[in-house]
Amino acid sequence: MLANGIYLAKLRLVEPFESYPSPAQFVMVWVPGVKEMPMSISHYSCDGELTIVFRVRGVGTQKLASIGIGSVLGIRGPLGKGIAIRPEWKRVAILAGGIGIAPTPLLVSALTVHGCETHLFWGAKTRSELFDLDKIFVDKPDRIEISTDDGSYGFRGTVLELFKSVANVHSYDAVIAIGPNPMLRAVCEDMELKRIDPMVVMETIVKCGRGICGSCYIRGSTKLLCIDGPAFRCSEVMHHLRSLD
Ligand SMILES: Cc1cc2nc3c(=O)[nH]c(=O)nc-3n(C[C@H](O)[C@H](O)[C@H](O)COP(=O)(O)OP(=O)(O)OC[C@H]3O[C@@H](n4cnc5c(N)ncnc54)[C@H](O)[C@@H]3O)c2cc1C
Ligand code: FES
Repeated sequence: MLANGIYLAKLRLVEPFESYPSPAQFVMVWVPGVKEMPMSISHYSCDGELTIVFRVRGVGTQKLASIGIGSVLGIRGPLGKGIAIRPEWKRVAILAGGIGIAPTPLLVSALTVHGCETHLFWGAKTRSELFDLDKIFVDKPDRIEISTDDGSYGFRGTVLELFKSVANVHSYDAVIAIGPNPMLRAVCEDMELKRIDPMVVMETIVKCGRGICGSCYIRGSTKLLCIDGPAFRCSEVMHHLRSLD
């Protein structure tokens, strides 16, 4: 357990992935007898050790949090497209809301390998949802700023308010936001006014994970999250985010 209701799991794959996963790619985790759930890849080592970080929401994640060492799970992946890091990115801002922190270790490591400076802005509702980031990061971000909605730790306010108060968006070559849909919508609407089109890593309902069932359809587009995402430009998903009210 990393914090109240938030867990880290290290899984040993029987067969390592065929290729090293890209940031924001995910796996389907099957808990036998319960269900299969999408989970971001937090870290992966080539010998087949996969790390996921998750928040308990319902029956599936509750069961996942309670299983012990030596239990057997099913893993399908890596799935989705992942984020392609561009050579012109020298400095990247990552805005993570809550459990949106889960895919950031893989992202920070990939950006670091490409020589990018990484600044992480992490927002949670309250202090009890925060934990020591050293427990999940292999490569540490160059700068870390933290906010809580209730001001119980760090900056008081949302992660977007934190970002706007301590950073200059124009000093970054890319902005990547990961978190709940209302946060992503707020980030996209704010950046739209500045004529910036950030990348957002989204969640929808994912069932098959391979482009067959249509449950992850991005409204107002021709895209499916499980094969075209989960990373999109704001301009591609704005209609979907606005339609979720
Ligand atoms: C691509 C992708 C990557 C994800 N990565 C992570 C991760 O790294 N860590 C993590 O903790 N979670 C992640 N999730 C969300 C995770 O899959 C759900 O929390 C999980 O499936 C919930 O299962 P459950 O049986 O515990 O809850 P359920 O009983 O299925 O649901 C409990 C409550 O949570 C809500 N809920 C379930 N799934 C979602 C969702 N996707 N978005 C919003 N609300 C939802 C339900 O509406 C319900 O109110 C990811 C989702 C996607 C699509
Ligand atoms: S989850 Fe079935 S099409 Fe994407």
